[in-house]
Amino acid sequence: MFAMVFIVFIASVCIAETPVATVPKQAFEAKRTYCMTCHGVAAQGFRGVFPIPRLAGQQPQYIKNQLSAFIERRRMNPVMFRVAHVLSPAMVDGLAAYFATLNPKPLGGAPENLVAAGKAIFENGIPSQNVPPCASCHGPQAKGSDQFPRLAGQLNDYIINKLTNWTKERGQDPKKPDTSAIMAPIAHLLTTEQVTEVAAYLSSLE
Ligand code: HEC
Ligand code: HEC
Repeated sequence: MFAMVFIVFIASVCIAETPVATVPKQAFEAKRTYCMTCHGVAAQGFRGVFPIPRLAGQQPQYIKNQLSAFIERRRMNPVMFRVAHVLSPAMVDGLAAYFATLNPKPLGGAPENLVAAGKAIFENGIPSQNVPPCASCHGPQAKGSDQFPRLAGQLNDYIINKLTNWTKERGQDPKKPDTSAIMAPIAHLLTTEQVTEVAAYLSSLE
């Protein structure tokens, strides 16, 4: 008798602590389609009034971190604040897992003559300026891992824009330091020319 009561008790605790995170199929489809109206039909990114980043093949943990950062206004972007703050945690998990499965060709469009110089920066860093190899965190193929984002195939103009404005947009809550602080000093050390080169290389990668 005692054993039975005990088992029932454990079972109910388990149910309470691990709710099964599911999103109704129709709601998920609607939201996914909505994301893609801006991020591109295959989430490959889109060039409109301003560049909208590629989400295809992106690391789920990075996507989740950025959506929280938009919601908590640690990362400033009025469009993505409005989009993100209505998403349930289960929807965020579902979307992040879905985007990771996509692998369309990069949009391209960067000046090809800068690619070789960008590759050298990505692989070797710039020792004279204390810039570490980008590959040491973003991976040898720029596919990222966990909190380190994939950069392969990202729009070059988006990359330029982010690296140039890093500390104006990210880490905006001094009371809540986040992963953006890892990248801040590196973004600062790069000259405009070096940013343009490394962006050209990254946007060409599949
Ligand atoms: C109205 C257009 C629009 C819609 C709809 C939209 N986004 Fe965005 N999203 C943007 C823009 C613009 C940016 C770039 C912000 C910046 O420049 O920092 C962005 C950035 C992001 C980023 C950061 C990517 C990175 O590389 O750092 C994520 C993650 C993201 N969006 C996820 C989503 C998801 C998930 C949805 C659907 C629920 C969605 N977006 C819908 C416009 C949109
Ligand atoms: C010490 C580790 C580290 C190194 C080295 C590094 N990064 Fe990063 N990088 C990060 C982290 C962590 C993030 C995610 C920041 C966040 O969560 O806001 C990031 C984000 C970025 C982003 C933003 C991506 C997006 O989708 O918005 C770009 C662009 C970037 N890094 C480019 C570079 C380049 C170019 C180099 C080499 C010159 C480099 N990184 C070297 C850790 C690193």
